Amino acid sequence: MRIRTLLACTLALPLSMAMQDAAAQMLSPEEVLGKSIFFDLDLSINGNQSCAVCHTPEAGWTGPISEINAGGAVYEGSIPGRFGNRKPPSSAYATPSPILHFVIEKKEALFIGGNFWDGRATGEKLGNPAADQALGPFLNPVEQALPDNACVVYKVCTADYPVSFTEVWGFEACAIDWPIDVDEVCATEGAFVDLSPEDRATVDDSYKKVGLSVADYEASSEVNQYASKFDYYLAGLVDLTKEEKTGFNLFKSKGKCANCHVLDPGPDGEPPLFTDFTFDNLGVPRNPENPWYDQAAFNPEGDRWVDLGLGGFLEKRVDYQRFAQENLGKQKVPTLRNLTKRPYPGFVKAFTHNGYFKTVKQVVHFYNTRDTKPTCLSPYTPVEEALAQGCWPAAEVPVNVNTAELGNLNLSEEQEDAIVTFLGTLDDGFMLSE
Ligand code: HEC
Ligand code: HEC
Repeated sequence: MRIRTLLACTLALPLSMAMQDAAAQMLSPEEVLGKSIFFDLDLSINGNQSCAVCHTPEAGWTGPISEINAGGAVYEGSIPGRFGNRKPPSSAYATPSPILHFVIEKKEALFIGGNFWDGRATGEKLGNPAADQALGPFLNPVEQALPDNACVVYKVCTADYPVSFTEVWGFEACAIDWPIDVDEVCATEGAFVDLSPEDRATVDDSYKKVGLSVADYEASSEVNQYASKFDYYLAGLVDLTKEEKTGFNLFKSKGKCANCHVLDPGPDGEPPLFTDFTFDNLGVPRNPENPWYDQAAFNPEGDRWVDLGLGGFLEKRVDYQRFAQENLGKQKVPTLRNLTKRPYPGFVKAFTHNGYFKTVKQVVHFYNTRDTKPTCLSPYTPVEEALAQGCWPAAEVPVNVNTAELGNLNLSEEQEDAIVTFLGTLDDGFMLSE
């Protein structure tokens, strides 16, 4: 209650649809540049993959292919046959995440912030997790797969964007002598652009600016719109239906959802982001259809591989290693904004880090009954089969599973449905009809 009143008076009024369109057209030159980069297919080894290929606005800034979401939920990279290991989370509402850090709570280190499911885009490089994050995909061999950061800078410097890279960053950012074979090199795996030490230094600096430009766009009002029915409701411009209100109340009370998908203002006073940027192990089962299990070249463990989440990242950091064990299996709490945004009715979306779940109802049912149903015989049981058998498969990572806030919520079927209905109010693009 207190939170709601506070929000109602501190929130700026959400924009009307017409004003939103106007706002989108009023992107700053920095944001326009970032947008061009975000949507540029040429920024990949085979000229076929941009950020938007895995983060499409119409699908709530996540994966746009229904058939993929219905199965392995992991997207193919620019090089055919190569897949990553996780489901793309929404790339919207990622910019408010603070730099990864920890606070001591109840004598334990509680990690907060970063980007990616495991927080490994910490924000320590560029002062902003989303900017750090944006440096990854262009060069990731299972994503855009360009062989050298110089290729990204070369392509961005020579692209025909409405706002050019030099307009935003100055002509020095592209003052580089490119070798004559640069196009060929940038289309070749494992190749390296031959540059003078000075030009290499310029490239490294400009590459950071590419990351900052992408983050500028990701922080813009076109991406983080705060224009859902729920935002209008908080601003007092529209009422929720009876069932939506019931769901909202359960979200805050019996469902315990708001413990982690918090309703407080964001770090800079933003409207609720539905995440506190902490990490948790919900005991989500493996997704048996994850194509990563068969990527022998990248995943020598085959189908024994498990996603260790935050703990897996902390293990690799000398300064954080001592906290790795207690964080194995924990994934970042995702925003719930645009959860059900889809390009057309019947389009399947995948949920949680490995896309095990295919509907929001299944997720809520899992929170409700994880610990009351028997364990399925096989840990590789897909969700539909588990539901048919009345069981849940074992957790992908059986340690550190949160049993205090979920697992046996004692919600009725109607209460589960009401929560699902409430979650449908969080999609941007809501039209105020009268
Ligand atoms: C091949 C698909 C693919 C491409 C291309 C891709 N991403 Fe992603 N993105 C993912 C996946 C998968 C994750 C989660 C990875 C992880 O957690 O390890 C992710 C995570 C993210 C996140 C983190 C969100 C959060 O809240 O932590 C952001 C932001 C993001 N991507 C933006 C981008 C940008 C910007 C680009 C282009 C430079 C891009 N992505 C290209 C699949 C993709
Ligand atoms: C203890 C903290 C916590 C609580 C309580 C919690 N969640 Fe979550 N939620 C998470 C984490 C962490 C994930 C990601 C887990 C993963 O991918 O393995 C998640 C994922 C989700 C997802 C998938 C989102 C996506 O983009 O893939 C949905 C939907 C969701 N939660 C809804 C709810 C609802 C509804 C409730 C209340 C019934 C709830 N959560 C309670 C922490 C929590």
